[in-house]
Amino acid sequence: MFLKNLSLVNFKNYREAEFEFHDKVNCFVGNNGEGKTNILDAIYYLSFCKSFFNPSDSQNVLHDESFFLVQGEFEKEGETDKIYCGVKKGQQKIFKKNKAEYDRLADHIGGYPLVMISPSDSILIYEGSEERRKFIDGIISQYDKEYLDHLIQYNKALAQRNALLKLFFKERRFDAESLEIWNEQLSNHGKYIFEKRAAFIKSFEPIFQEYFQIISGKKETVELEYQSQLAAIDFIEALQNSVDEDLRKQFSTVGVHKDELQFNIGGHPLKKFGSQGQQKSYLIALKVAQMEFLKQIKKVNPILLLDDIFDKLDENRVMHLLDLVNSRKFGQIFITDTHPERIEQLLRTVKGEHKMFEIEKGSVKRVWHEEKK
Ligand SMILES: Nc1ncnc2c1ncn2[C@@H]1O[C@H](COP(=O)(O)OP(=O)(O)OP(=O)(O)O)[C@@H](O)[C@H]1O
Ligand SMILES: [Mg+2]
Repeated sequence: MFLKNLSLVNFKNYREAEFEFHDKVNCFVGNNGEGKTNILDAIYYLSFCKSFFNPSDSQNVLHDESFFLVQGEFEKEGETDKIYCGVKKGQQKIFKKNKAEYDRLADHIGGYPLVMISPSDSILIYEGSEERRKFIDGIISQYDKEYLDHLIQYNKALAQRNALLKLFFKERRFDAESLEIWNEQLSNHGKYIFEKRAAFIKSFEPIFQEYFQIISGKKETVELEYQSQLAAIDFIEALQNSVDEDLRKQFSTVGVHKDELQFNIGGHPLKKFGSQGQQKSYLIALKVAQMEFLKQIKKVNPILLLDDIFDKLDENRVMHLLDLVNSRKFGQIFITDTHPERIEQLLRTVKGEHKMFEIEKGSVKRVWHEEKK
């Protein structure tokens, strides 16, 4: 699978732009703030119906304009699919495949698998457990349609239960029956989520371990430890037992919204004991393993977006990574870099066919191309 072209209107700092892509490697080069990452984000939109960076669609509209359009054509199994994403401020986002509008955006997710590697991935290590749950959920949602539905329903039920707890606290009353409705919903969706997460980690971990060794070049033991309250208790019972504490705290204290994915290295938490280099390799390995995992399940090559890769890795490791991507036939890659010579030199070394786009102030200044001799 690959993205053939992309067209932008009023998207972030692009008033109007068109791109024809190489089916292997595409590089966006230019100075800071010119709009390189914005292109990756537009590609991300086509796959996930949303921005990788900004949860508010309307903030991605070019300043002082009222709408944006992102369109692109994916080549997949010999067919061309035209994807359309239109956002008008104050209106619902419109998402179409081959001119037919989706009823639910969730139906689109997973059709065009994609993995983004960005400097902001470090939040996976440094931020709270929510980021790691998002990482897990983002992958499972790409191959399990029901999962996303369960997740949405679970979060709705959770919000309702929490609102009820707050109301009880405020009005100093309690009604077990109305709470029970939400307990059942939470338990129903939560069990599904728990089982899918546990199964995912089990099959993902060995792939991750393999890639960690390839990327770091070291035989260190790394583990992904899935921690969930649901592993040891019956969820519905736990919800009933936690009522007193929940009322006091005015939110639900047990459930899969408390799940954690612990990153370990050499048997110790990575965040505390991992070196800078180990942490960088860990993150890249997580993402590359995500690619391999999706590839095995979806039977298509995911698209890889590499934002500011040199920010994360030294040239040797980048070469390792590019080599890996090349040799395993990973599919199409999009790379951003501020130094055209550096990335071109590396691509020549690994003999990667590529196309270069020089970006300046939200437009394409120059395009050049290098085919395999
Ligand atoms: N809604 C918007 N309207 C207009 N411009 C925007 C909007 N959102 C972001 N920008 C502009 O996009 C530019 C940043 O683009 P981008 O992040 O793609 O840069 P970059 O080339 O990746 O830079 P760097 O090398 O620093 O990562 C900034 O100038 C920012 O002001
Ligand atoms: Mg950038």
